[in-house]
Amino acid sequence: MEIIARWHSRSEEETRQWGERLARDFLRPGDLVIVAGELGVGKTQLVKGIARGLGLQGEIKSPSFSLIHEYKKGDFTFYHLDFYRLEEEEEVVDLGWEEYREDEKGIMVIEWGDKFPTLFSPPLFLIRLSYGNGEQRDIEVYYDSCSG
Ligand SMILES: Nc1ncnc2c1ncn2[C@@H]1O[C@H](COP(=O)(O)OP(=O)(O)O)[C@@H](O)[C@H]1O
Ligand SMILES: [Mg+2]
Repeated sequence: MEIIARWHSRSEEETRQWGERLARDFLRPGDLVIVAGELGVGKTQLVKGIARGLGLQGEIKSPSFSLIHEYKKGDFTFYHLDFYRLEEEEEVVDLGWEEYREDEKGIMVIEWGDKFPTLFSPPLFLIRLSYGNGEQRDIEVYYDSCSG
């Protein structure tokens, strides 16, 4: 796992802009992105920006209750998942998570995916958000290219 970017945000809009930047500069079809950080730190805001960067129109809503939302544009699908409410690995498997991964053109972003580290194998991106003073947030972008 290597760190590839370290960003600082001072507002929710700036966090969305970093999400856009992430999508444009780093993400490719088939990529998996784990978004980690405490409740309310801005994970969903970042995902809204990622969606914007991928050219998706319309509102991205937090999938905390529904666990998964899919957004389509042509034959491209953006999968937005949230594992906050899941306790067991089995529940993630029941979600059909692995089937979604078979879509090699899609991009998948998982809030709280770091709760189940053994389920995911590289290549993957890990984004860590953490609180600073007031509305400030630190955003670290890691990339894991292969095992080891
Ligand atoms: N710099 C910032 N980046 C992102 N969100 C921020 C920031 N400053 C304040 N906020 C607020 O923090 C909250 C983040 O919510 P959300 O993105 O749903 O968090 P999470 O998905 O991590 O639980 C929003 O209410 C947002 O307005
Ligand atoms: Mg969220």
